[in-house]
Amino acid sequence: RTGVEDALAAFRDGEPVLIHDAADREGETDMVYPAAAVTPEAVARMRNDAGGLICTALSDDVAEAFDLPFLQEVIDHPVAADHDLDYDERSSFSLTVNHRDTFTGITDEDRALTITELARAASDPDTADFAAEFRAPGHVHLLRAAPDLLDDRLGHTELGVALAARTEQSPAVVVCEMLDDETGEALPPAAARAYGERNDIPYVEGSEIVDRLR
Ligand code: 5RP
Ligand code: CA
Ligand code: ZN
Repeated sequence: RTGVEDALAAFRDGEPVLIHDAADREGETDMVYPAAAVTPEAVARMRNDAGGLICTALSDDVAEAFDLPFLQEVIDHPVAADHDLDYDERSSFSLTVNHRDTFTGITDEDRALTITELARAASDPDTADFAAEFRAPGHVHLLRAAPDLLDDRLGHTELGVALAARTEQSPAVVVCEMLDDETGEALPPAAARAYGERNDIPYVEGSEIVDRLR
């Protein structure tokens, strides 16, 4: 299965998709799940089969309701003074969190709990008491999407949140970069596509999502 229609169908069913942003951006394929559907087995799949950083992207509205800043703006240290990226204007990183019912926060069960509780809170952000439910720092990286999503920025953050919005999912998605075990580099798109075929996970280009959803 490939393409944006298959990706939308998978997301509607709470299944993951593989999103390649663009050859002239990061050139990375992320494994992306609707956050509400993340189980401990899904966390294990991301760390074993994808291998990158497991992050939860939230819409700008939800991040605003939870008072979540961009991390670069709140790190009061010279190391954060100039966040020069070669592939985009700015990073989408916000805080790191754990749900308060986790122990260390890193186990598959703990991360799945943090992630599903983020999805639950994001589905009703005005009644959630974010600081009462989560602690920081933690083991799940939060990402904050741009306000106008694909009109503003074309990162995995916005591509994933746009899929969630279109499929009536909570505006919370989990992304994890696919890395190549042989080289340590980003997994090449053809290999990511082949992984998708072997595992029945749709592979989609960021440009297809932009064409269909923007
Ligand atoms: C966090 C990242 C990833 O690239 C992730 O895909 C989110 O970033 P972006 O929206 O810039 O693609 O850096 O591990
Ligand atoms: Ca990245
Ligand atoms: Zn990315």
